Amino acid sequence: MEKGADLIWMNGELVAWDDAKVHVLTHALHYGTGVFEGVRAYETPRGTAIFRHADHVDRLFKSAQMYFMDVPFSKDEIAAATRDLIGRNGLRSCYVRPVVYRGAGPMGLYPLDCPVDVFIAAWEWGAYLGDEGKAKGVRAKVSSWRRLPSSAVIPAAKATGQYVNSVLAKIEADKAGYEEGILLDDRGMVCEGTGENLFVIKDGRIATPGWSADILGGITRASAIQIAEDLGYTVEVRDVARGELYMADEIFMTGTAAELTPIREMDDHPVGTGEPGPVTLEVQTAFEDALHGRSDRYAGWLDVVETSAPAPAT
Ligand SMILES: Cc1ncc(COP(=O)(O)O)c(C=O)c1O
Repeated sequence: MEKGADLIWMNGELVAWDDAKVHVLTHALHYGTGVFEGVRAYETPRGTAIFRHADHVDRLFKSAQMYFMDVPFSKDEIAAATRDLIGRNGLRSCYVRPVVYRGAGPMGLYPLDCPVDVFIAAWEWGAYLGDEGKAKGVRAKVSSWRRLPSSAVIPAAKATGQYVNSVLAKIEADKAGYEEGILLDDRGMVCEGTGENLFVIKDGRIATPGWSADILGGITRASAIQIAEDLGYTVEVRDVARGELYMADEIFMTGTAAELTPIREMDDHPVGTGEPGPVTLEVQTAFEDALHGRSDRYAGWLDVVETSAPAPAT
């Protein structure tokens, strides 16, 4: 990847982007024994602010715990390191990628004697599924790959190794000419996109799959549920059948990278009118207002970063 910022935080130190290297015998490189987060910070009237920072740090630590990794820093230290990294890199809006992983140690599957290393990188990153995708919706395809079930891994953990599943679905969707793949769970019920949760709207009612469908519990999903309910909609967390995707009036996806992106076509069927519908647009507008600090109601979701930028001249 091209240089995205000056500095990367590694195990407590800020190092130059080009010097942030790991050993080839890093355990996580061989066996996927890492956990991570995707976090975003936005420019707001109060300065650069990290969206739902504490929730991301909590999920990072929960993922680590599920894979028996003791993070060698406290939650406060990780959060402070992230704010410092953004400030020191002078980033006004960015994507943040903290990774906790098993480093180089004894080879073999047993990981508990390997060190637990941590890095945090940040860089500017535009809309993951494109600005046009966010505005007009994307074309999605149900994947032939099923979401890794909780009988095999822990879908609620954001573990690096588990992402080979999403990678296969992403490649398949791309090769077939679609912007995103939708994975079903092992029962054949709708689960989520390769890196986004899914919402289906029919007759003004909103439904989204829950834990029984082996989802990753998205923080954007939780935000969208709260916003929709605050707007007066009913959100049902329930199993969603594949057939409902073709009968839906509207479908949208949520994720830190993709933010709130409508789906305009599912398996070559237009979703509703083929354009983002009114419920999607209402929730999306309120969500964008929350992200960019234009909403008092959701101001508590923003963790403002101290920057050393000079105060404006008076
Ligand atoms: C598989 C998967 N599902 C859902 C999400 C959405 O989660 P969040 O809104 O917390 O970014 C992500 C992204 O983190 C993901 O990778």
